[in-house]
Amino acid sequence: MAGGPAVGADGEPGPDSRADVTTDAARLGNNVPEPRVTTMFDSIAPVYDRMNTLMTAGSDGRWRRAAVRAAGLRNGGDALDVACGTGKLTAALAQAVGPQGHVLGVDLSPGMLDQARLACGELPGVEFRLGNALALPVADGSFDAATIAFGLRNLASFEDGLREMARAVRSGGRVVCLELSVPRPRFMGWVYQGIFRITAPVAGAIFRRRAAYSYLPQSLDGFPGAEEIAATMRRAGLVEVSFKRFALGVVALHVGTVV
Ligand SMILES: C[S@@+](CC[C@H](N)C(=O)[O-])C[C@H]1O[C@@H](n2cnc3c(N)ncnc32)[C@H](O)[C@@H]1O
Repeated sequence: MAGGPAVGADGEPGPDSRADVTTDAARLGNNVPEPRVTTMFDSIAPVYDRMNTLMTAGSDGRWRRAAVRAAGLRNGGDALDVACGTGKLTAALAQAVGPQGHVLGVDLSPGMLDQARLACGELPGVEFRLGNALALPVADGSFDAATIAFGLRNLASFEDGLREMARAVRSGGRVVCLELSVPRPRFMGWVYQGIFRITAPVAGAIFRRRAAYSYLPQSLDGFPGAEEIAATMRRAGLVEVSFKRFALGVVALHVGTVV
């Protein structure tokens, strides 16, 4: 179905949706400079997980589990979690690959990585590394799957970030992207973004992080829709790209295969 969501009967990402459209309004990357993004995440690191639970009413765990399933990992496999933050998805990936497996979490923010090491440092096979998603500190084809959760919209180039993830994954492996999205139709999207613009800083104020949480709705302004992210994944060299939407389209899960 051209341009529509592709959702399989089992609720996992379904058949390819072939909409190679990039609207003029859609940004190709985040225009907030990297040092500012890093400083902002360093400042919210201690409250990040509690804010997520508050703002998603606890649904973020379910979305991350869907991302792990989409990665198609086996016991003993190798996974890369890009923009891993406090390591929530990293820990879920570690469970999927088991104690014989290996999961590397990479992030630009030392503060977020400190929290990740506190939360998951003891998990077998889990490692964290400071690094940029646009120049991943890993060898070509060294992972069975690479994931990025709520990280893509922070990157200076979405396509370059996805291409880097594809480079890190073996042929036949998966690249998975879980990210905020804007609900459709357009009217719903405007309403949602209006509400988000007000609620995010207010929720941030509870943890004395109002300014930092103003960045969140800003980072969604002009962020490409789910069809456009699918098209960007194809341009990054991925095939069999599919996606599904969660929570009325507030979140989208994309998966593509490395050639
Ligand atoms: C919203 S958090 C998501 C964290 C985690 N993946 C999750 O699911 O909760 C975004 C993360 O992206 C990281 N980040 C932003 N730009 C990055 C870049 N260029 N390279 C690596 N990490 C980056 C931030 O430091 C932050 O930890």
